[in-house]
Amino acid sequence: MLGLELARTTGLVGSQAGGQPWYCAAVGGRNTTTRRFALPRLPLERVHVEVTSHCNFACEFCPNPSLERPGGAMDFTLLGEVLDEISTSGVSRQVVFHQQGEPLLYPRLAEAVARGTGLGLTTCITTNGALLDDRRVDELLAAGLSRLVVSLQTPDEESFVIRGARGLSYPAFEARVVRAVRRIIAMDVPTEVRVAFLTKPWPRLTLPIVGNHWKIVEHNRDLHTLLEGWASRLLEGNDKAPAPGAIRKAVRRAGVLHRNELRLHPRLVLEARPVGMWSMPERDYGRPWLPARRGYCHGISEHIAVLWNGDYAFCCADHNGRTSTARFQDLSLLDYLDSEPVQEALQGFQKLRPSHPYCQLCLGGPHPGIVAVKAIGSILYFKVLRRLRRHAQA
Ligand SMILES: C[S@@+](CC[C@H](N)C(=O)[O-])C[C@H]1O[C@@H](n2cnc3c(N)ncnc32)[C@H](O)[C@@H]1O
Ligand code: SF4
Repeated sequence: MLGLELARTTGLVGSQAGGQPWYCAAVGGRNTTTRRFALPRLPLERVHVEVTSHCNFACEFCPNPSLERPGGAMDFTLLGEVLDEISTSGVSRQVVFHQQGEPLLYPRLAEAVARGTGLGLTTCITTNGALLDDRRVDELLAAGLSRLVVSLQTPDEESFVIRGARGLSYPAFEARVVRAVRRIIAMDVPTEVRVAFLTKPWPRLTLPIVGNHWKIVEHNRDLHTLLEGWASRLLEGNDKAPAPGAIRKAVRRAGVLHRNELRLHPRLVLEARPVGMWSMPERDYGRPWLPARRGYCHGISEHIAVLWNGDYAFCCADHNGRTSTARFQDLSLLDYLDSEPVQEALQGFQKLRPSHPYCQLCLGGPHPGIVAVKAIGSILYFKVLRRLRRHAQA
């Protein structure tokens, strides 16, 4: 298995592989220090804190159902320590309560949000929405949650099947999401809600190996119908709703090829973005997988993840923790960012050369043409398009 080979050859598998990781010898215990490094620039845009890796859905487009690392939920004391340190170290001002898994399955989620809020952090939950009942909504609002993202993703009853929501019918799911969103925007709270859909443009080109049968919105006209339908459902009876004509005009600008954001209310946004081939790159789906020598990624320079067991990971897309080289329990956030593997990966990306074997696989592909397109695409996207967009938004 390529993944295990990767672990064996690099030794970069963190605590979960057993044995003595490099940092134990190097550091000899956990020490929180002052910052010594120039990169990454702080604060990071966000830190993903995976409260649980368990999920009540098994979405076909998501790697969660076939994770190869052990599953579990974060110890609440550890979670408190992680939040405290994110705040005191200045590593980030924003915490997102997932990497994998469904955060609403974590029984003490509202307490964690309250702790983050109390520390002055922006707190964000991305959820599949299945458990969003009135009690949970009210607890999260009372805890001061900054942003709730509901991953609606599939447009209708037929496509909902690919989410693997055992025992939950689409009408019940839809009704629950609509009720929760209406409840939040009707209240006098600062919480912003985002309702997110996935699109599948050029399916033959973008999802050649997996996901051929995924029923996700493919055409602009279907996306427009979907967004308009949800806008009217979510805004029914809301006196801050824009006029239907204004919504229609904004919806017409949305397209399946790019990321779309439609602000419907001061605290309600509809989002749609293309589904990614979030396969695990170490699985080759029966084809050879070529590592990338060129490319760019915003992992580590914009965000990192702390997995449920304390393992660090370079980015939110490293589902199996293959980039894990240390754990929070042994190495402070600042020391982790200063550590050799992280600094080496950052310096590699500065030269547009992914250096970590996992990053090379993640940016790689089954064919030299795809690898080249991903290299150029990643550089253009992260280095040019995103900067231009941020500049325009500023
Ligand atoms: C891994 S989930 C974890 C949080 C929660 N369970 C949820 O579904 O919102 C985080 C986000 O990743 C998205 N996601 C999963 N697989 C994806 C893929 N292949 N491409 C793009 N986004 C994906 C989900 O839809 C969700 O919005
Ligand atoms: S997208 Fe979210 S809900 Fe679906 S399987 Fe992945 S973690 Fe679970």
